[in-house]
Amino acid sequence: MNTRSMDEPRQLGAVRNSTVHSHGLDVSAYSGDAALAALLDRYPAELIDVNQYSYDAAGQVTLMAGERGQSSGAELLEAIGKGRMWINLRGIEDVWPEFWEAASDAFGDIASTYEDMRAVKRAGQLIISSPGTRVPYHFDASGVVLFHMRGIKRMFVYPSDEAHQPERAMEGIVARRTTEELPYDLAFEQDAAVFELHPGEALAWPLYAPHRVENVDGLCVSLSMDYQTWESRARTGALYTHAFLRERGLKPPSMHKVSGAGLALRWLASLPLRRMRVLGNNIVKIPRQFVVDASAQNGMRLTALD
Ligand SMILES: [Fe+2]
Repeated sequence: MNTRSMDEPRQLGAVRNSTVHSHGLDVSAYSGDAALAALLDRYPAELIDVNQYSYDAAGQVTLMAGERGQSSGAELLEAIGKGRMWINLRGIEDVWPEFWEAASDAFGDIASTYEDMRAVKRAGQLIISSPGTRVPYHFDASGVVLFHMRGIKRMFVYPSDEAHQPERAMEGIVARRTTEELPYDLAFEQDAAVFELHPGEALAWPLYAPHRVENVDGLCVSLSMDYQTWESRARTGALYTHAFLRERGLKPPSMHKVSGAGLALRWLASLPLRRMRVLGNNIVKIPRQFVVDASAQNGMRLTALD
């Protein structure tokens, strides 16, 4: 039985401390203008997310979603270069298998430096983002290794504990009951581990650890590779089951009290729940509020909302 108190870091997964690795991928071949423009020209529209975040003085975030419109790959890159945008290319493992293969080898090298980092499933998104933009405080429901390819990025990683990441909020996010980000407080900044990432470097951080990103210099390109291990699958499944129990007025125990057979049982319970989508999905489709336009000052035009 795990006797760790709720206030201590959760210490889940194979990566116990955030670590910078060198990844050895050919950054100019995979993130130069020519390669990216060609990729964007052939990328399936349904796998591209275009977002822009704005922040108030307390660090609270507002998300605006956009669409690519008629922009060519080269125009899209030009717009990102002068805008405040994040473009996520999902499913890179299917659309760019050559790059995925090289990145998978690099992942294998990194994974071999940890005890028991055995991925049962991996997926990737290529993130192309404007100089100076930021991604808000959040966590991912899987392990992640970020392969940085272009520009300079600063990653802020926070402890995964009840103070920085309440388990109730994690349950809601895993069960997709909410579009809310994790609650964020500027006071968290004193607890952040900060890493400045340059092309050729990859960062691995502990499972579920909250993090945020600031682009420091230039247009930034990174491959975010998420990986599931049996543990991350079981734990994320258990969070889902706990969300279901809570919805029915029950009070599931804290995650730190669940391990071994109890964890396996909760994961098994989550499988049919997910299949039946018992919890539904409260996330409404976010309306598109802008369209990319390389000829506009910020690389985008606001569109009228109906
Ligand atoms: Fe993330």
